[in-house]
Amino acid sequence: MAETSRTASADFVVVANRLPVDLERTADGSRRWTASPGGLVSALEPFLRSRKGAWVGWPGVPDVEVEEFDDDGLVLHPVSLTSDDVRDYYEGFSNATLWPLYHDVVARPVFDRSWWESYVRVNKRFAEASAQVAAEGATVWIQDYQLQLVPAMLRELRPDLRIGFFLHIPFPPVELFMQMPWRTEIVRGLVGADLVGFHRPGGAQNFLWLARQLAGLESSRGAVGIRTRPGLMQVGDRTVRVGAFPISIDAIGLDKLAKTKGVAERAAQLRRDLGNPKKVLLGVDRLDYTKGIDLRLQALHELLHEGRVRPEDVTFVQLATPSRERVEHYQRMRGDIEQMVGRINGEFARVGHPVVHYLHQSVNRTELAAFFSAADVMVVTPLRDGMNLVCKEYVACRHDLGGSLVLSEFAGAAAELTSALLVNPHDLDGVKNALETAITLDPAEGRRRMRAMRRQVLTHDVDRWARSFLQALGAEPAD
Ligand code: ADP
Ligand code: G6P
Repeated sequence: MAETSRTASADFVVVANRLPVDLERTADGSRRWTASPGGLVSALEPFLRSRKGAWVGWPGVPDVEVEEFDDDGLVLHPVSLTSDDVRDYYEGFSNATLWPLYHDVVARPVFDRSWWESYVRVNKRFAEASAQVAAEGATVWIQDYQLQLVPAMLRELRPDLRIGFFLHIPFPPVELFMQMPWRTEIVRGLVGADLVGFHRPGGAQNFLWLARQLAGLESSRGAVGIRTRPGLMQVGDRTVRVGAFPISIDAIGLDKLAKTKGVAERAAQLRRDLGNPKKVLLGVDRLDYTKGIDLRLQALHELLHEGRVRPEDVTFVQLATPSRERVEHYQRMRGDIEQMVGRINGEFARVGHPVVHYLHQSVNRTELAAFFSAADVMVVTPLRDGMNLVCKEYVACRHDLGGSLVLSEFAGAAAELTSALLVNPHDLDGVKNALETAITLDPAEGRRRMRAMRRQVLTHDVDRWARSFLQALGAEPAD
């Protein structure tokens, strides 16, 4: 075993680019911790808090050194990034190369050699930190596209560990992955794991094909199932499994929260504050160009123009968490969206009654549950999304069987929520038709659809996802 100095001895370690909490510097120079953005943390945090473990990740700001600390029973082990690392590894290779490439090239990926070098260096640092934290024979679960080289690097340092990797974003079609100049290095990085997990069987199958072509690895050719029938790959004397594990949410927790009096009262208050419109439409996303926020606004604009929707009848609320604000694509998209919001309100609002309420803010879980409870139509229109948890959260909050969901076929969740009003986000007329249908949907039909979706979401929660992954990894006994 390679020499590493151990500072701790966790039997279960999650490794992700971000810690579940973000360090914030306030205006008066003090520091505080807030919840980190994004679906990875929303999904994994409740699961990890329910068991003892350690979480290795970046505290969210550059150039700070933070000691390992205990957060309510969860050991958080910070990995520092310099401003250059943030620019090249995080904003550069992770979010201007991998993110657009893996999301169907909806924006053009940039291939920059110095960003790649930074990605390799930072992945090494995460591997070293994980090697320090993990006890002998521990299970280490590495997360997402920012850390694809860590599995092989960690195995090199600590062959005694059981290593899993899960990709939270889509794995691209092989033709797109082949554009990547460092494609073989990435495949070799991933096969350092004992189990490589994707949301969908298609992603797993693409990966198996690429590993054969690029790394010359022998692998099984049968169809990969969901949570079953993983693909098998021979890497030296190890057998690596490749499987599909669709992620989910803490559905029961959210269902309970939505049933509280506080949430019901807040939902009613929100509707009053919005002027009691006939229909409240809602979008909730990180402000990301993959989410199709612009096209849902365009669809609404055209419906208003054509008189198919009356401005006095509908209010559209868009909650948008600030995200990756220094990356160029994100800056441009934010400008476009804000212009479109201004345009719709300029044309269709009345004094005191905007048609679109746009909040470039994050709200807390209770407030979010109230928004979900208040919304008649949830609009989820990504051009591509690995899973999309927002639509599952909406369904979990609708114990009243009210509300309807317009959902992009290009979100991983569409394979599970087949009773949603499914749309092709590239087909603007289709999106408009679906919005109109959702606004005018017969309540009995709405209840039928919501009941079917709730059955799916409440029986396939994040706990089931994590257990099925860890069982396939051999880290937990089978049910
Ligand atoms: P992604 O991981 O790409 O951001 P997901 O839909 O999978 O997309 O997960 C997003 C998570 O962030 C969900 O848990 C959602 O509730 C949360 N979220 C998104 N926007 C907001 C917001 N404005 N305020 C609070 N939470 C938000
Ligand atoms: C998605 C990614 C996560 C990421 C999150 C927030 O959910 O899959 O890995 O953490 O977005 O993005 P950020 O860049 O702010 O970490």
